[in-house]
Amino acid sequence: MNRLDAKVALVTGAGAGIGLATVRALLEAGARVLATDKDPNAEAVLHAAMGATADLDFVVHDVTSPADWSAAIERCNARFERLDILVNNAGIAVRERLDEMDLATWRKVLDVNLDGVFLGVQAAVAAMRLNGSAGGSIINVSSIMGLVGGAGPAYNASKGGVRLLTKSVAAWCAREGLPIRVNSVHPGYIRTNLIENAFSQVDPITDGYTPEEIRETIRALHPMGRFGEPEEVARGILFLASDDASFMTGSELVIDGGYTAV
Ligand SMILES: NC(=O)c1ccc[n+]([C@@H]2O[C@H](COP(=O)([O-])OP(=O)(O)OC[C@H]3O[C@@H](n4cnc5c(N)ncnc54)[C@H](O)[C@@H]3O)[C@@H](O)[C@H]2O)c1
Repeated sequence: MNRLDAKVALVTGAGAGIGLATVRALLEAGARVLATDKDPNAEAVLHAAMGATADLDFVVHDVTSPADWSAAIERCNARFERLDILVNNAGIAVRERLDEMDLATWRKVLDVNLDGVFLGVQAAVAAMRLNGSAGGSIINVSSIMGLVGGAGPAYNASKGGVRLLTKSVAAWCAREGLPIRVNSVHPGYIRTNLIENAFSQVDPITDGYTPEEIRETIRALHPMGRFGEPEEVARGILFLASDDASFMTGSELVIDGGYTAV
C-alpha cells in the first residue's frame, strides 16, 4: 500500500513540522526526495532526522521566488532526473486582527501561502508533462481554515484560495489530457512550531484570553479532544501521492479530528 518506489518528490517547507514528517513518510515509502526550505538550517535538521541517505537532497528555496522555483526543479532533475510528486507545504501564520492589519501583512501571508503554491503548481506541471503517461501528483497543504473561518483574514483567504486553485488546476490538467492529479489537504490544529508561535502571540489584554485559554478552547473544538501530530497529516499526503489515490483529483482530504464535522 502507498508505495512510491522509483518516484521522485519535492517537498517545500521541509525543515520542520508537517514538511519534515512528510519527507520521512515519503522516504520510508521508497521515494527519493528533494527537501527544500527557506531556512538554510533546515538541511542540518533534515540530515539529523533522516540519517545519511542518497535518497535525500536539500536546496534552500523561498517559495515566493520564481527564480528559486526554477533552481529547485533544475536541482531535482540534475540529482534525480525527474519529478513525480510535489508537496506544496511551506506556509506561514502571523498575528492577524482585521482592525490592526496593514496591507503589507496581508500581502506577506498571501505571497507565501497562495502565490507560493501557484508558482509551485505551475513549475511542477511543466516538469511532470515530461513524464508522459506516468504523469504526477501534486498535493497542496491548505487547512481547515481554507474551509471555515476562524483564523485571521489573510490566512483564511490564502488557504481558501489554495483549495480552489487546487480544483482549478486539477480540472485543467485532466481536460488537457495530462495525467497529473492535484489535491488539497486540510489539517486541523497540528502540534508544530506554527501553532506554538500563534499561541505565544496571543495578547491577554487586546484579545481577552491568555495563550493557555486559547489553546484549551481550540483543543476542545476538535471532537477527538486533542491536537493532531505532523505524522498524521504526512500519512494523508503519502496516500494522495501514491497510486492508491489514482481516481482522486481536485478533492480535499480533511485531517482534523472532527473539527469541521460539527
Ligand atoms: N500546524 C497546523 O496546525 C497547521 C494546520 C493546518 C495547515 N497547516 C499548514 O501546514 C503547512 C506546514 O505548517 P507547519 O505547521 O508544519 O509549520 P512550521 O512552521 O512548523 O514549518 C513551516 C516550514 O516552512 C518554512 N517556510 C516558511 N516560509 C517559507 C517560504 N517562503 N519558502 C519556503 N519555506 C518556508 C519554514 O522555514 C518551516 O521550516 C503550512 O502550509 C501551514 O499553513 C498547518
